[in-house]
Amino acid sequence: MRKKIVAGNWKMNKSLSQGLQLIDEIIAATSDLPSNSVLKIIAPPYTHLASVSEKLKSVTGFAVAAQNCHHMPNGAFTGEVSAEMIKSTGANYVIIGHSERRQYFGENDTLLAQKVNVALANNLIPIFCIGENGDERKTNQHLEVVKKQLKEALFHLTPIDFSKLVIAYEPVWAIGTGVTATSHQAQGMHNYIRSEINKKYGKDISENTSILYGGSCNPQNAQELFACLDVDGGLIGGASLKTTDFVSIINSFAN
Ligand code: 13P
Repeated sequence: MRKKIVAGNWKMNKSLSQGLQLIDEIIAATSDLPSNSVLKIIAPPYTHLASVSEKLKSVTGFAVAAQNCHHMPNGAFTGEVSAEMIKSTGANYVIIGHSERRQYFGENDTLLAQKVNVALANNLIPIFCIGENGDERKTNQHLEVVKKQLKEALFHLTPIDFSKLVIAYEPVWAIGTGVTATSHQAQGMHNYIRSEINKKYGKDISENTSILYGGSCNPQNAQELFACLDVDGGLIGGASLKTTDFVSIINSFAN
């Protein structure tokens, strides 16, 4: 059975002390939940990874993700962080291909395929982000766009490697805008992504791949989105920075 996951992508927010306080509050507020009901992933900035991992290592039901990694294993890349370094902090996941990386840092699917490879080689699980922008949705190209992203960044993987991944569908027009995909739009796309995975890797792998939704997910809309058959959780930005909102989204699975 595929994992239910709620992941908080803090982006470039929170000092170390603020971040650790937020984690303490989230741990306290989720202590009553059965630990295996929803996997909670925290994706803080690089600088906080070791401290956050240390804090969460004895708390069941939590994992830690980086927000990015470099595409080369090591070398003269001043200011960059490798997958091996991330793994050495205790983190087990890495977000790859976020639309902000694609948009502001010019990352394309050829580069992202290399990041996925280096992450897997270091036993990090990629949370791979895909999604169309507003124009692509308006002109009805969203399915083609997502298909191309899957094909170019992920479909070179062996079935064993692909089965380790988590996918996040994040329509760019919904990120940080307050405009959420409707449950109909989310389910339609998630079902399409699963069908493309099925075509390439077969039913077993497609049925076991967790596909998260991201983009203005909040306590008001999470329950309806998570009720969709092919939505296995969320990748949460803004609402992951507030304990009550993030915990309320996590609880959406329990209600
Ligand atoms: P928001 O939840 O702030 O829209 O951000 C979503 C996101 O980009 C998560 O990676």
